[in-house]
Amino acid sequence: MHLTKLVLANFRNYASLHLVPNAGLNLITGENAQGKTNLLEAVYLLATGRPLRTSKEDELIRWEAEEAAVRAHIHREHALNVEVEVHLARNRPRVVKVDGQTYRAAAALGQFNVVVFSALDLETVRGQPADRRRYLDIEISMLSPAYVRVLAGYKRALEQRNRLLKGIREGGGMVTPSTIQLLEAWDEQLVRYGASVMVARDRFIAALRPLAQNAHLELAEGREELDIRYAPSTEGVTSDREQTAQLFRHHLHTVRDEEMRRGSTLVGPQRDDLLLYVNGKEARTYASQGQQRTVMLSLKRAEFELTLQERQEPPIVLLDDVMSDLDNVRRAQLLRMTLRGAQAFITATSAETFPKEILVSARIYRVENGRIETVK
Ligand SMILES: Nc1ncnc2c1ncn2[C@@H]1O[C@H](COP(=O)(O)OP(=O)(O)OP(=O)(O)O)[C@@H](O)[C@H]1O
Ligand SMILES: [Mg+2]
Repeated sequence: MHLTKLVLANFRNYASLHLVPNAGLNLITGENAQGKTNLLEAVYLLATGRPLRTSKEDELIRWEAEEAAVRAHIHREHALNVEVEVHLARNRPRVVKVDGQTYRAAAALGQFNVVVFSALDLETVRGQPADRRRYLDIEISMLSPAYVRVLAGYKRALEQRNRLLKGIREGGGMVTPSTIQLLEAWDEQLVRYGASVMVARDRFIAALRPLAQNAHLELAEGREELDIRYAPSTEGVTSDREQTAQLFRHHLHTVRDEEMRRGSTLVGPQRDDLLLYVNGKEARTYASQGQQRTVMLSLKRAEFELTLQERQEPPIVLLDDVMSDLDNVRRAQLLRMTLRGAQAFITATSAETFPKEILVSARIYRVENGRIETVK
């Protein structure tokens, strides 16, 4: 899959942009703060429905403007080509269009896949459980649009249930049979959506594990072993939906009194984690910076392989300014991966650090103050 056209209007520092990118490598060069990362962010938004660096969509709209739009044509080998568009406006929900038809935002996900490498990714390895849940959610969403709906359903149920529990706590813990009935109704919603979330996470991690382990063995030249494991807040979760629902339901029952005292939901996917081990030790706490970076690269390569398996074509690769951070071995491996037929957008302050044989087939752009020109 690859972008055949990218159009921006009032997105970040781009007043307007029409880009017909190369199907292979696109090297985006330019001084600091000119708009290199902004360009990748536009592609990322179209693929995942989320901003790359911020949680506030407003920040994506050009300062002088009220609205922004991002649109891309995507060529797919095993599906019809598609046009995806996101419209952002201040103080209004965004509008997503797929082939000109308006959808709820979630439906735009999964039209095409990206694998992104940026300095922020390290948070997946060394950050909080919330960072890893976010990672899981984004990755699974790109492979399965149904997951987006399930996740939204879970969040709604969780909010409602928390509101009810808070009410109970504020009422001094007094509960009537009708309150219990209401709570049990929310329990069922939570269990239904929650079990689907857990099963999807379990399956994703199980599929990613061998790919990440292989990648890691190669990157660490056999000296280290990576393991990745799902740590659901409810123990014993399997890829069986009914069984998982039973376990979750039971878990909720056992903590109910405590939840009413505390006024919030204490178990469920909002407490999950993804555990990463290097040679049996948790990478978050024990791995060196270099090791953490290797873990991240292994996960990325595994994402690439998984997309290839599931979509029968490589994802679009976005490399934000990471080449200079890597040693030669890892740089060569990363480039080799992107050269396996994938379209790639790579940002760098200059093309000089790139091997000649890479530059031969690459298109090179230069970005200056929200304008882009083709250099080669
Ligand atoms: N909503 C916005 N409207 C207008 N300009 C913006 C907006 N958001 C960010 N910018 C500007 O975009 C500029 C470029 O950002 P970007 O992160 O793309 O730079 P970059 O070329 O990747 O630089 P670096 O090499 O430092 O990473 C920044 O100067 C920032 O002030
Ligand atoms: Mg940048």
